[in-house]
Formats: sequence, C-alpha cells, structure tokens
Amino acid sequence: MEKRNFLPFPYEFKEISDDEKSAIKRVYKAPIASECVRVGPKGYLVYKPYQNEAENIYNMPLRPSDVFVTSYQRSGTTMTQELVWLLINDLDYSTAAANPLTARYAFLEIFMYFGAADQDSYLNASINMTNVDMKKLFEIMKLWSTPATQLLADAPSPRFVKTHVPLTLLPPKILETVKVVYVARDPRDVVVSCYHHARLLTATAYSGTFKEFWSLFHNSLFTMTPYFEHVKEAWDKRHDPNLLFLFYEELSKDLPTVIRRVADFLGKQLNDGQMAKLCDHLSFKNFKNNISVNYEDLREFGLMADDESFVRKGKAGDWRDYFDEEMTQQADQWIKDNLRDTDLRFPSTDL
Ligand code: A3P
Repeated sequence: MEKRNFLPFPYEFKEISDDEKSAIKRVYKAPIASECVRVGPKGYLVYKPYQNEAENIYNMPLRPSDVFVTSYQRSGTTMTQELVWLLINDLDYSTAAANPLTARYAFLEIFMYFGAADQDSYLNASINMTNVDMKKLFEIMKLWSTPATQLLADAPSPRFVKTHVPLTLLPPKILETVKVVYVARDPRDVVVSCYHHARLLTATAYSGTFKEFWSLFHNSLFTMTPYFEHVKEAWDKRHDPNLLFLFYEELSKDLPTVIRRVADFLGKQLNDGQMAKLCDHLSFKNFKNNISVNYEDLREFGLMADDESFVRKGKAGDWRDYFDEEMTQQADQWIKDNLRDTDLRFPSTDL
C-alpha cells in the first residue's frame, strides 16, 4: 500500500486488566477469546492482531464506488449486505446465488480472529472430524488471515465491504468518499444473538451461561464493545448524505419501506414486481435456506457447533425469553444511562 500520505493512527492500544482477562477466560473453552486490547478513547475491544493493521485500515484508499455495510455485529448485517448488493447489481439473483456473500464482500477485520496462534484453535476444532477437506480449510484460513486492505487493493469496482469496525477507526474522510449503510438493533436482542454466535463458533467455544455472557457484554468485554458508543457514532452521522442509518426492527416490521429507503440512497428504482420478489428473497425463511448467505458451507469444516446456526431465529424481542428480572432491570438502567445524552431511540424500546 502507498505509504507516503499515511496519517499516523491517532489512538492508543491498552491491555485489558488481569481480572477482565480472567472473566473472559472463565467462560470460553479456547484462549483466543481473551487475547484482546482496547483501542482509542472509547476503549473498543479488539483482538490483538488488529493493532498491526489499524493504521492500514485508517488509511485505506477509498473509491467513490465503494459501499460499506457496517454495524455492531448480529444486528442484521447479512440481510443488509444482500439487499445492498442486489440493488447495486440490478437484482442479479443468479450471480448472488452462485457466489456466497463472503466472496462478494470483503470482511474488513476478519483477519484479527486469525492471528497465527489462533489458527490452531480453528484447526483443532476440525482435526478430529472425518471427511474434512483440510487443504481447503487451510486455504480458507489463509484468505481470512490476510488483511482485507490487501485484498481490496486489486479488487475490481464496485467494492463491497462488510465491517463491525466503528466509524472513528475507519478512514476519517470515509463519508466524503463512499456510501455507508449502518444497521442497529435493540441491544438486548443483540446480546442474545451474540451469545448464540459465540456458542456457534467452535474455535472460541463459549461455554458459559447466558447470564454470564450478558455480564461480559454490558461490561464491554465482548468484541467491539462498548456497544452504545459504536451505535452513537453512526447515529450522530445519520444526516450525512453518504450515511444511511437503519434499524433491524424496521427491516423486520416493514421491509418494503426500508428497501425503498436503501434504493433511494443508492440511486436505484424498483417496480412493484421487483419489490415483491426482493422482499420474498430477503424473508427469514428463504434466508435460512439460502446457502449463499447463511454460512452453512462452513459447517463441513467443523467451524460451527451442531446445535447453532448463523441465520438463527430472526425475531425482534427474542430477549424476553432470556432475561430474568434482575437482568431486565440491569438492561433498563444500562439503556437509560447510555441514552441520556443522545436523541437515539430504538424503535423497540420506550426507555
Ligand atoms: P438472531 O440471532 O436473533 O436470529 P448479522 O447478520 O449482523 O450477524 O445478524 C444476525 C442476526 O440477523 C441473527 O439474529 C439472524 O438470525 C438475523 N437474520 C439473518 N437474516 C435475516 C432475515 N432475512 N430476516 C430476519 N433476520 C435475519
């Protein structure tokens, strides 16, 4: 990458405390989950390999045709990715079906989960399985451990980028150059979904209870937390012409209206027939069975636990089945405290 005009990365990295490390280690089977540091004034939690790439991400060359789909994880990113990709590619369903989202989008920070030592965790998860194509698995690991900034350098336009990196860690002029779609979700449903996701990945193998997970999450001991800081950064930019802010709850409740907003944002138009087909394509039922978006192709490598799935339940308000009275009160207070200094409100909460 061209180094001449590089801006120095303006933020510091800080180790997490021993107590924080132990709290994480206690509930994960694999050590990889506690190999984290905090970055910047907000203290976002990232995996250690991020440190080596932070400056390249901050300085990544952008093209006006780039599109970023960003979010705090488990907020409806995948569905938004598919929607954005199809709109920009004039509803080319056959190319979408033939190429998984992982091939159509660069996942900006996936490399940070695949530091050299961490790869053993993934390989160990697969080593005892019969019929795993280890050569193919090594190829996948190699690709995922390569920083996306390198892969994107030679990629043809338009380039599609998925990321959970918060806006302040991305190039400072990003909104002057590219279109960014940000999707947010009721944090209580995000916690539940992250809990299942942490159980899904055999490399990290979360083994604690939901209550323990909730404690980690709302104490900002999960990747890219603190959660509210992440969302508020994007919310503060919601009037920028190059940023579109969506809520998962709106996608769930009134998909056609959200599709129109995204289409307007991208300068695309849909007739009624196209709208109906797109809504059907994005429906939870179809998504769950769509191999190009549901990540089920990774199951054969032993990377996913048998009793979990990436496209899981797709419900707004699922948290009610997980939170006891104590957690509900903690969440109420947590949300209230964090919304006090902002006009951000989630469609699903009256707090
Ligand atoms: P749940 O775990 O609550 O089911 P992300 O794509 O950001 O990782 O978000 C994943 C969440 O979106 C999961 O939530 C997943 O089931 C849900 N999801 C994925 N596709 C969906 C769809 N087409 N409609 C509704 N929800 C969907």
